Amino acid sequence: MDRIRIRGGKPLSGNIPISGAKNAVLALMPAALLAAGPLRLTNVPNLADVATMTALLRHLGMEVAHDTAARAVTIAGPATVHEAPYDIVRKMRASVLVLGPLVARHGIARVSLPGGCAIGTRPVDLHLKGLEAMGATITVEAGYIEARAPTGGLQGARIIFPVTSVGATENLLLAATLANGETELVNAAREPEIEDLVLCLMRMGARIEGIGTDRLRIQGATSLAAASHPVVMDRIEAGTYACAAAITGGEVLLEGARLEHLGAVARVLREAGVGVNEEPAGLRVTRMNGLHGVDVVTEPFPGFATDMQAQFMALMCVAQGASMVTETIFENRFMHVPELTRMGARINVHGASAIVRGVLRLSGAPVMATDLRASVSLVLAGLAAQGETVVNRVYHLDRGYERLEEKLAAVGADIERLA
Ligand code: EPZ
Repeated sequence: MDRIRIRGGKPLSGNIPISGAKNAVLALMPAALLAAGPLRLTNVPNLADVATMTALLRHLGMEVAHDTAARAVTIAGPATVHEAPYDIVRKMRASVLVLGPLVARHGIARVSLPGGCAIGTRPVDLHLKGLEAMGATITVEAGYIEARAPTGGLQGARIIFPVTSVGATENLLLAATLANGETELVNAAREPEIEDLVLCLMRMGARIEGIGTDRLRIQGATSLAAASHPVVMDRIEAGTYACAAAITGGEVLLEGARLEHLGAVARVLREAGVGVNEEPAGLRVTRMNGLHGVDVVTEPFPGFATDMQAQFMALMCVAQGASMVTETIFENRFMHVPELTRMGARINVHGASAIVRGVLRLSGAPVMATDLRASVSLVLAGLAAQGETVVNRVYHLDRGYERLEEKLAAVGADIERLA
């Protein structure tokens, strides 16, 4: 069940429904640890990572009730266990987002160090330094982080991030909502998923200023209340399918997608010759004429998303001319390059930059997936390639893309999952 076969060369045409954002829901679910009442999330995507977060919250003693038909989940506490074990955390690094809420609500947390992953070492030093600035005592031993709040609870603090970090912003934002006094997060991440978390916390009664900016001010409260919140749409899923339409020379309507959330991705796609136009129902993506090479540098939002780098590189493989793709966020995020090369792509990597020289056609081949976004870039290449592509290890895909082959088949792709 972990292979997908694609027969390329068919332009996509039709509507693709965009699901709720993986990287939003993985920060929203731990927010329930803070609340005195249940948190109900709607527009929840059906993803492997959501199942992993569900298992972790249940391990902590939370009641997690999924209503799959309604695409909703209701999470009620309080947590009775304050330890996130290695065997869960190692499956999904976002598990570290239970650290801040547990310390803020219960004064103690013991969370396995998430460790690195295929794309980089992925440290959590900024998460820990921020909690220490709020008065927590942090010890790291035997692969576990142990955090204890001071007597009386965490204290508000001014925290300046030397590096923009989505996860550190989320963990400290969560913790600050129940700290004593005001916390200011300076150089905070501005991704739409952070904005969505702020909106949800405000619905729960948190007092937060600076939404959507890189400076968040949080007035700590004594408790947060029950609330209901719709998960924001997944801008990376939308950008991925925009690349699918572009690479196959088709036209699709990305239902529910919002231009403002694509940030620089929309601008770069337009520069490459892809039509991206907002309509009431979502974004219409059209391959106008030939694609041409465009240089990109990945940056924190609103810059070009690192999570779109592999997908855009696949697109540039069949553009006219050359493109330089520079990855500035993670140290090892070019693992799709050797696999794309096996399909006939012409790519040379020089440190953090890859030079892509467009070719007329890619050719289908058996390829290996290594991480979520590298996997999907191989699917995109397969959609455009001549012949058959089999992508192995597609369990990576299931972590972040809901019903990927169904959504693509519904707009004309010849794609199926092999037993
Ligand atoms: C989130 O990861 C996303 N994951 C990633 O998406 C995404 O690529 C990344 O943000 C950047 O946008 C989730 O939201 C679950 P960071 P996160 O902290 O929070 C360094 C996907 O494909 N750093 O913003 O782990 C770090 O090494 C995944 O959906 C520190 O040095 O990313 C990196 O170079 C992949 N110390 C940079 O900051 C820290 O304490 C950005 O990392 C934390 C981060």
